[in-house]
Amino acid sequence: MDTPHPSTLTVQLPGRSYPIHFPDAGLAAAGALIAEALPDADRCLVVADARVAELHGESLTRSLKAAGLGYHLATFAPGETSKTLETAEQLWQAAAAMRLDRRGLVVALGGGVCGDLAGFVAACWMRGVRMVQIPTTLLAMVDSSVGGKTGVNSAAGKNLIGAFHQPSLVIMDTTILASMEQREYAAGLAEVVKYGVIEDADFFAWQEAQAAALVARDPQVVAQAVYRSCAIKAAHVEADEFEQGIRAHLNYGHTFGHALEGSTAYRRYLHGEAVAIGMNMAAAAAEALGFCADKHLLPRQEALLRALGLPLVHRLGPDPAGELADLAARTALDKKVSAGRQRFVLPRCLGEVAVVTDPDPTAIAAGFAAYASTEASALTGDS
Ligand SMILES: NC(=O)c1ccc[n+]([C@@H]2O[C@H](COP(=O)([O-])OP(=O)(O)OC[C@H]3O[C@@H](n4cnc5c(N)ncnc54)[C@H](O)[C@@H]3O)[C@@H](O)[C@H]2O)c1
Repeated sequence: MDTPHPSTLTVQLPGRSYPIHFPDAGLAAAGALIAEALPDADRCLVVADARVAELHGESLTRSLKAAGLGYHLATFAPGETSKTLETAEQLWQAAAAMRLDRRGLVVALGGGVCGDLAGFVAACWMRGVRMVQIPTTLLAMVDSSVGGKTGVNSAAGKNLIGAFHQPSLVIMDTTILASMEQREYAAGLAEVVKYGVIEDADFFAWQEAQAAALVARDPQVVAQAVYRSCAIKAAHVEADEFEQGIRAHLNYGHTFGHALEGSTAYRRYLHGEAVAIGMNMAAAAAEALGFCADKHLLPRQEALLRALGLPLVHRLGPDPAGELADLAARTALDKKVSAGRQRFVLPRCLGEVAVVTDPDPTAIAAGFAAYASTEASALTGDS
């Protein structure tokens, strides 16, 4: 883990393989990398939220210009509430105004909201134009920019309207993370922990040893963590692009986490925070089921999440029993329910998880209860 990683990873998919670049020059190299990979491209619709555009828009557009690429920078208001068909429509209008045709491309410069939205815009515009992902949050680097899931939210639910649309390339500049708020950054670390638990016990142990450096955003350590996370994500996407099987392992902690996000109306937790608590709940449920053979997994996972500054426990309000029942009921509505059967990704040991169909509901309830409390404390992120 501590040796320097190669500067490119490839996601191998039939007819649509693509590179994930980690250029030494960072964003300044983006224009040249795009021009080299897509020599017929003439213009780019660059999509960024207003905050990211202000912080990093110019570095990108300068490098596009230097590479001879035309561009229009279209911005939207930061936040999940912009991930809608309405914003997509505004971006399609921008594409029309700049006469973006199939030689052109969409470039997403931003977090997961921007990547999902711009990817969806690219998937639909002229029945599909190429796109480039340039993630600027840790979550987008280790998760949403790789794998081709794009989409918007609607009254029907989160991410229900969308398309699989793989990028033509992904460009990672981990130095961009320096401008992130600590809480947002830490939330992305939860997904990094997830990769260790689901696939790579050595990577998990490396994170334990490097926890302080990860929190402090040591550039070398962060770059290693992003690289290894992307390699694990890429392997899951290659094996199962459309999530019929093993790609579901990436949802470890998410079924519990989605219930927590839903029950708090998406206001209390950042996604990664809910996933952190959800991973504790999943591991506790696995123990209650007798599925997890490794008695050290849960305490080690909890200790690592704590060291990374993530909340560990869900705080309950005045009706704890009612809330716990509500949380359990919400897992029955999760999109991971298939043909009426509930599927949970549960750990067997560090580095290995499996999908468990219709587990004993008392074990799931025990998982929720083990990491829920009526006390406000540092563990709930409330202190
Ligand atoms: N497609 C997928 O596979 C996938 C996977 C996981 C999550 N997602 C989606 O990702 C979204 C969440 O992504 P997110 O957490 O990156 O949120 P986000 O895109 O809203 O970014 C979070 C905040 O950070 C700011 N920001 C971004 N980069 C910054 C930087 N470098 N410096 C300073 N501020 C910066 C943004 O302006 C925003 O306010 C959700 O919509 C979720 O559904 C998609």
